[in-house]
Amino acid sequence: MTQTATIKIRRFNPDIDKKPYWQSFEVDMTPETTVLSALENIKANQDGSLTFRRSCRHAICGSCAMMINRRNTLVCNKPLADTLNKKGEVTIEPLPYLPVIKDLVVDRTVFWEQYERVKPWLVPPTETPAKEFRVMPAEVAALENAETCIMCGACYSACPVVAGNKRYIGPHALLKALLRVIDPRDTIPEERLKIVSTTDGSYRCHMVLNCIDACPKGLDPAKAIARLANLGLRMNGVVTEREQRQQTLIAVDEIPVQ
Ligand code: FES
Repeated sequence: MTQTATIKIRRFNPDIDKKPYWQSFEVDMTPETTVLSALENIKANQDGSLTFRRSCRHAICGSCAMMINRRNTLVCNKPLADTLNKKGEVTIEPLPYLPVIKDLVVDRTVFWEQYERVKPWLVPPTETPAKEFRVMPAEVAALENAETCIMCGACYSACPVVAGNKRYIGPHALLKALLRVIDPRDTIPEERLKIVSTTDGSYRCHMVLNCIDACPKGLDPAKAIARLANLGLRMNGVVTEREQRQQTLIAVDEIPVQ
């Protein structure tokens, strides 16, 4: 069954507009219509100048994060019907706290700069280790928590600390920093902890927890930040503890055959 929805979009073209304004569009919808497909419908049939980012359409690339009804989320996997109020309306805005390039597209430069700041790449040993690295189940869970992040920016731009302080590293980068700090293959955990254990890093988090609420992947950046802050307080012991753990964990080939 086809229905009509009213899509209210916050628009802004800095080349011609003095300030942002709201524009409404009516679109036909079915239960399968997503918010992204509604935006594409508008762009194809009503206003080709409407500007937004999207790529994968499968909640993988992270490019389509926007604010729907004042909450950050991905639009490609969000059913339009789930977003409508009783009047059949939904509001769509660009991610907050970031400069708007045009309409729903924001400038993510600072987001990526903060990500780069934590050196998110793995720094492996220069020599091949004699044995495989060993990881505890709890560490695997933490690694998965950080690996699942698609860097969409929903958590970053929902964070009130980011709103007031662009020097703050941010939940996205701190989550990825923890990924490397707890990875037994990485060789620079102390250097990483020195980078993030500052008042612009893990100690700046106010535990507002908006990041958890905003994450479209159901991750918990706040928990990762708390853990990072804890590790930062005992920085010198982290490497020793890691080495001891490697000694005590049993490798698969050492499990006695029953
Ligand atoms: S288009 Fe890739 S996450 Fe939505």
